Amino acid sequence: MIATGGEGGGHVGAVPTSLLVPQVAAAVDIPVIAAGGFFDGRGLVAALAWGAAGVAMGTRFLLTSDSPVADEVKRLYLAAGLDGTVVTRRVDGVPHRVLRTTMVDQLERGGRLGALVRSARNAAAFRGVSGMGWGEMLRQGREMHRGWGLGWGQVLMTANTPVLLRAAMVDGRTDLGLMSSGQVTGLIDDLPSCAELIESIMAEAGATLDRLRRVR
Ligand SMILES: Cc1cc2nc3c(=O)[nH]c(=O)nc-3n(C[C@H](O)[C@H](O)[C@H](O)COP(=O)(O)O)c2cc1C
Repeated sequence: MIATGGEGGGHVGAVPTSLLVPQVAAAVDIPVIAAGGFFDGRGLVAALAWGAAGVAMGTRFLLTSDSPVADEVKRLYLAAGLDGTVVTRRVDGVPHRVLRTTMVDQLERGGRLGALVRSARNAAAFRGVSGMGWGEMLRQGREMHRGWGLGWGQVLMTANTPVLLRAAMVDGRTDLGLMSSGQVTGLIDDLPSCAELIESIMAEAGATLDRLRRVR
């Protein structure tokens, strides 16, 4: 089982990793993998101390030289500070941690009318990248409006989110302004290979355990 704390990228809850993982590890009899905010060996040791069997990392692996994500996207993540992400419901109706971009700031600040206008603009961009006609978009939107009880602005954003995310990550369309990201992006400033990353995490975890043994 993976327990992901609120620092993580994408859809998240409000409880931070440091509080969530010990609770989950104590509550279940299967191995727990800790996620949300991990990037180095110290974090791995902390997760083991909280009762986890290991860690999963999303944002850290995205920021590697092996990651196929577009270079323009990686540059934006590397430039972000610890306040460079935000959890918003305005993207697809549920709490979603994303990079703080101009588009996301506008979604967050706008009232219902502003959100509808911006969502409509996003829908136009979505049409461009998905090739879906307005008729099909309206049909799907009506289903979400009626079936899920979402307002029209939210319907447009929710329907578009997967394609907008894909367009940013795969095609480098940073201009669309929608990129899921963990808060840890603010601590990462390099692009190691996956092999280098894992070797450095294991070396640092070993050194940390040695240091803690000396403390004892
Ligand atoms: C760019 C990006 C896309 C993600 N997409 C998904 C997804 O489609 N489904 C999902 O369950 N989690 C998704 N996640 C969350 C990760 O699976 C993982 O829980 C999270 O990244 C862990 O936090 P971290 O980024 O601090 O390591 C995504 C994360 C990122 C950074």
